Amino acid sequence: MPSEIPFIRPSFPGPAELAEDFGEIVHTNWYTNFGPKERQFARALGEYLGPDLHVATLANGTLALIAALHTTLGPGTRDSYLLMPSFTFIAVAQAALWTGYRPWFIDIDPDTWQPSAPSARAVLECSRDRVAGILLTNTFGVGNPQIGTWEDLAAEWELPIVLDSAAGFGSMYAEGERVGGRGACEIFSLHATKPFAVGEGGALVSRDPRLVEQAHQFQNFGFVGSRESTQLGINGKLQEINAAIGLRQLVGAAATSSSATVPSSPAQVWGSSRTPKPLRCASRARAARPPTTGPRCSPAWVNTRSRPATTTTRRYTCSLTSRQTLS
Ligand SMILES: Cc1ncc(COP(=O)(O)O)c(C=O)c1O
Repeated sequence: MPSEIPFIRPSFPGPAELAEDFGEIVHTNWYTNFGPKERQFARALGEYLGPDLHVATLANGTLALIAALHTTLGPGTRDSYLLMPSFTFIAVAQAALWTGYRPWFIDIDPDTWQPSAPSARAVLECSRDRVAGILLTNTFGVGNPQIGTWEDLAAEWELPIVLDSAAGFGSMYAEGERVGGRGACEIFSLHATKPFAVGEGGALVSRDPRLVEQAHQFQNFGFVGSRESTQLGINGKLQEINAAIGLRQLVGAAATSSSATVPSSPAQVWGSSRTPKPLRCASRARAARPPTTGPRCSPAWVNTRSRPATTTTRRYTCSLTSRQTLS
């Protein structure tokens, strides 16, 4: 039986808008280092994502994840582990290694493909003293339908959770809350392949303004106030032109959110400047149902299972029972 599969269709601003933005950047002669467009973008992201959220923009999602781990857990000494799913992108394990932790891979849930809480519990029951934290991913950008269970588990074992929501900008958890405000912090990738894309870019979001301030220092060579570097840092700043691209797209994204304050410049809608496509595509289109025969399209099923969560799916991955199904 045919069913609709909802997709988000990201699109960059057109050449004229990019030229206008670049003209402003040339005019102010401010290309990076927390310029006016980056500051406006960080504020607008926070307002879009939800009340009392603070945002640091970064040069990419990997650096956002490294900053998140560094600020939440401090630098590791390679003798403790972060629980993370075995099914994810390599940057997740690499971020742990760059911050001095070792990956401890846990299983994923066979139905939702999200990290498995029972698998994490099994590790903690035998090896809690070797674990420093939980690096939870929101697989495919779908808000984990069991986020509450994970938070309870983390509280029970007194462990921080850092959430990697790389592809999840614009998705919502099942309770109707936007992905971005859970755990100690959440990170997004704003890479060109993601639903909300600025080229290369990332964001770290937290309810804790001190954590975001520490991330700011970390992404700026560890400078505190002046140019005195008193702690380990890196260069992880977002450039003005990427912030400008984000601002253009956020105008349309925020149009679906009554609480968001957005730049009043060009009316452009996330999805396409020509064909407006509001962000909450999954709530507008019928969610796909899992096929009863043939290849099992798990992400489509994930979306069905996660309802009423809203997702910004840009890619569907099919799990085939045999290679023959392909022919
Ligand atoms: C789960 C996950 N984490 C982190 C990243 C890294 O993001 P970026 O490419 O912006 O560095 C990705 C990129 O695809 C990802 O899928």
